[in-house]
Amino acid sequence: MDLAQLTHDLAALAHDASAAVAEASDLAALDAVELDVLGKKGRLTAILRGIGSLPSDDRPNVGAVANTVRSGIEAAIAERRAGLAGTELVARLAAEAVDPTTPGRPFRHGSHHPSLESMAEIVRIFDRFGFVVLESPEVEDDRTNFQLLNIPPDHPARDLWDTLYVDLPNRLLRTHTSPGQIHAMRTFRPPIRVLLPGRCFRYEAIDASHASEFFQVEGLMVDEGTTMAHLRGLLDAFAHAMFGPAKRTRFRPGYYPFTEPSVAFDVECLICGGSGCPACGRSGWMTILGAGMVHPVVLRNGGLDPERYQGFAFGMGTDRIALLRHGITDLRVFLEDDLRFLEQF
Ligand code: DAH
Repeated sequence: MDLAQLTHDLAALAHDASAAVAEASDLAALDAVELDVLGKKGRLTAILRGIGSLPSDDRPNVGAVANTVRSGIEAAIAERRAGLAGTELVARLAAEAVDPTTPGRPFRHGSHHPSLESMAEIVRIFDRFGFVVLESPEVEDDRTNFQLLNIPPDHPARDLWDTLYVDLPNRLLRTHTSPGQIHAMRTFRPPIRVLLPGRCFRYEAIDASHASEFFQVEGLMVDEGTTMAHLRGLLDAFAHAMFGPAKRTRFRPGYYPFTEPSVAFDVECLICGGSGCPACGRSGWMTILGAGMVHPVVLRNGGLDPERYQGFAFGMGTDRIALLRHGITDLRVFLEDDLRFLEQF
């Protein structure tokens, strides 16, 4: 190794390095160039290893040249690095840019099923009159669903409730929420004001107004001196809160084995306002619930003395009430789980 060769190698390295620095297209590539040229095991170090074999007079000269080459390369790298960092920052900012004028993404949300929504509204109204909600089983026995409600086996009134039986001895799916009256009377002492909302089941041929699964809300009030006038007043207040304060109402005679007397409670047709339309069978009235004074036999079956206590009860289908409130004509849409329908509520 002689002075001329070393000087030549250093010049060649300076040339190569400046080309490589210029070509580095990002910071990672530039780091690689720096390591290759200036690193501990880099090309400059390799060249300088030759200095030791030079005559001692030549060494300072080469050292000076080497330092100039090193600082030249360092400066070129520093300059390129600053340039690339600026370019990368600009590119990153552009990629991360937020457009504040973009419309927000819609947030998916659910809604209450119209039948349950009506049920909640009914519960809310009766809550103002001190009625508390009680849950009652969906699987009952014949005794509680029928017999204790004054419907003995073979009683013709059983035809009103086509029953679904469960594959267990003496078990059936409740056909109405009325058996909850028995549970309520056996659980609480009067004064009793309970609301019993829940799912009911009947063996029905399904059509626009019949389903085999539906919801009812039962009400029961028992106290000393409870009369039919209390029932009438309460149901009027309910109808006015639910359907509008100006709506006319009426009691019609009805028949249920568990109440005596029994009534059907009608509200002026919500569609035609009483003038008569197909929705109300041209009568101008819509029946929204059955009600009556609790039969003495039922009070006794609930463990209460009918000489001391009187009560009234009522039961309504919340699906039917939801139909009326929303002007829907076919009950089947409630059970089809069709989002196009459900999302409208
Ligand atoms: N349980 C009756 C039905 O499903 C509705 C009913 C009528 C409930 C009169 C009552 C009542 O509490 O007093 O058809």
